[in-house]
Amino acid sequence: MEPGQARLRIEELSEEIRRHNYQYYVLSRPLISDYQFDLKLGELSALENEFPDFRFPDSPTQHIGGGITKEFRQVIHKYPMLSLGNTYSEQDIRDFEDRIHKLIGEEIEYVCELKFDGVAIGLTYLEGRLVQAVTRGDGVQGDDVTTNVKTIRSIPLKLRGQGYPVLFEIRGEIILPHSSFNALNLQKEEEGEEPFANPRNAASGSIKMQDSAEVAKRKLDCFLYSIQCRDIPFGSHYESLQAARNWGFRISDYVVRCKTIDDIFDYISTWDHARKELPFDIDGVVIKVNSFAQQEQLGYTAKSPRWAIAYKFKAEEASTVLVSVDFQVGRTGTVTPVANLRPVQLAGTVVKRATLHNADVIAGLDVRTGDTVFVEKGGEIIPKITGVDLSLRPPGSLPLRFPQNCPECGSALTRKEGESAWFCPNETVCPPQIKGKLEHFISRRAMNIDSLGEGKIEILFDNGLVSSPADLYELTYEQLLGLEKTYKGESDKKDRVVKFREKTVANILKGIAASRSIPFDRVLFALGIRYVGETVAKKLARHFGSFDKLRMAGPGELTDVEEIGDKIAQSLRLWLDTPKNSTLIEKLRMYGVQLAFTGQESARKSSKLEGLTFVVSGVFDKFSRDEIKQAVEDHGGKNISAVSSRTSYLLAGQNMGPEKRRKAESLGVKIISEEEFLKMTES
Ligand code: IVH
Repeated sequence: MEPGQARLRIEELSEEIRRHNYQYYVLSRPLISDYQFDLKLGELSALENEFPDFRFPDSPTQHIGGGITKEFRQVIHKYPMLSLGNTYSEQDIRDFEDRIHKLIGEEIEYVCELKFDGVAIGLTYLEGRLVQAVTRGDGVQGDDVTTNVKTIRSIPLKLRGQGYPVLFEIRGEIILPHSSFNALNLQKEEEGEEPFANPRNAASGSIKMQDSAEVAKRKLDCFLYSIQCRDIPFGSHYESLQAARNWGFRISDYVVRCKTIDDIFDYISTWDHARKELPFDIDGVVIKVNSFAQQEQLGYTAKSPRWAIAYKFKAEEASTVLVSVDFQVGRTGTVTPVANLRPVQLAGTVVKRATLHNADVIAGLDVRTGDTVFVEKGGEIIPKITGVDLSLRPPGSLPLRFPQNCPECGSALTRKEGESAWFCPNETVCPPQIKGKLEHFISRRAMNIDSLGEGKIEILFDNGLVSSPADLYELTYEQLLGLEKTYKGESDKKDRVVKFREKTVANILKGIAASRSIPFDRVLFALGIRYVGETVAKKLARHFGSFDKLRMAGPGELTDVEEIGDKIAQSLRLWLDTPKNSTLIEKLRMYGVQLAFTGQESARKSSKLEGLTFVVSGVFDKFSRDEIKQAVEDHGGKNISAVSSRTSYLLAGQNMGPEKRRKAESLGVKIISEEEFLKMTES
């Protein structure tokens, strides 16, 4: 494409994408599918890579991310970020309204809004362009998270329409919708990582990640609720929000004006129920005086405005009887106490089980079988027991005892210093740990043997046919045919019979055979090594290229790999040095499982950088950092995270940390620019 033509197309696509973002997020009326949207964004991104001079600073491709923030700069808020007076009581709302009435003495209009349960953010716009995004921090100063915030698609990088002040700040809440939260936790669990307790924690963790491309994948969202600026060109808060919506901001559809206290209570009680239907969490409602003149008259206390108050919803709670406690052993051996409850209705579902977390929680609550307990369903996934009604405790009850031995295999439980969880160390013998590891091995993102899912692993294990992943490759048609098991359905559900008929067996064997061609990085992930999730496995596999090279890695070589810290390296070392694991690997090798890259996975462009190691740091002109790293690998080189004596080149972009440069200089590591790097790879 001609440069002139490219420029036009880039401008056209940018405008189109902005319009679609507005349609989707602000108007909730998408005109195209997500797929079509991604195609447009992809086309724009490709064009910008080809014609970097036409990459404009507020291009919608910034929503894809790529920039890295090593340390978040502290920024002092121009207007302090205050908090709100909180209450759970209706009387406090009446008092609030009374007080205001007395102070103002004229008619007052209120605005009621949802209180979003996320992370507060202040966005600064200069001449219609997003220039800074800062978290609340301590209210006086917060973290500059601009690079990460730019990946949030509902936050406009460039405003629409007219009439916005030249310089202003708009504040709101970054949230993680339930759908994104659930997908994220599912992925975390599959990777053997601890899931987030609730969407708020997930949002606040996401916005502080270093790699903005990862932030983009989290699919955060943002509702805005207040404008700060000098000489604001509106008379009321409500008006200012309507204008902000026209400029392209996502403003909640549920902002309403109320004249009387009854209107306010109506709004509160409506949302106390309707919040369960929302696709994101709210934890209350906010009531604000609408007129800016009246707000000014009312002023502020040291911590919060006198013109607003938050009414918080109570976490939903119910009481019921604790029937018994099961001690469940998970894939990693952790023993979790789970309470069996007399079924009770709570937050729209019937609750029969609740977590008691760990031994410390049981002791702290002194909860006993037969007790009447309080169950709460907050932001957490599983309901939890929050207290005991001692007045209803049956006579003669005894404190609950946490088992000293594994309820599944009898091994003595151990506990790491400073941790509250007890766990069973016998990972190669303890049935739920073995089954859990096998289930992980066959899972979709690992060896993808989907013909073995849904209870089939259990049947194989119960029949003594498999106890290690290698056993799968020895299974024969005769062994499998006719195996069956009935899974009892819970109260209202039917029993489920799993039977190995001819077709099932053929599929299972086909699936196992096909898994031999699953690439090395996924095999490494499938092994279920603690802390080696999908991403880590990919990085290790790419870096070392084969299992044997990984096994031979000397001290320091593991932590050379990007994102591999001491914790992962230690866990990996322990796994690699355990003789049973070496036997497993040798068996897998014998059965033809991929323990090295074959060379076909990455279409290598050349071997020009063979044997060279690169630390890529900072921001580049022509390519994103990920693209540069890809180029290193495409030409046979390796990326490492920190500068050391093993580094061949430090590829330095803009804003690179001074520490890296100093270290490279002191070790005599060559520092090269993007231009020089590109020359090295050119033919
Ligand atoms: S207005 C002076 N409106 O709740 C404070 N805040 O403790 C003005 N929040 O830090 C804030 N939804 O993070 C306002 N519709 C809403 C809100 C809201 C959530 C958060 C915000 C603030 C905290 C108040």
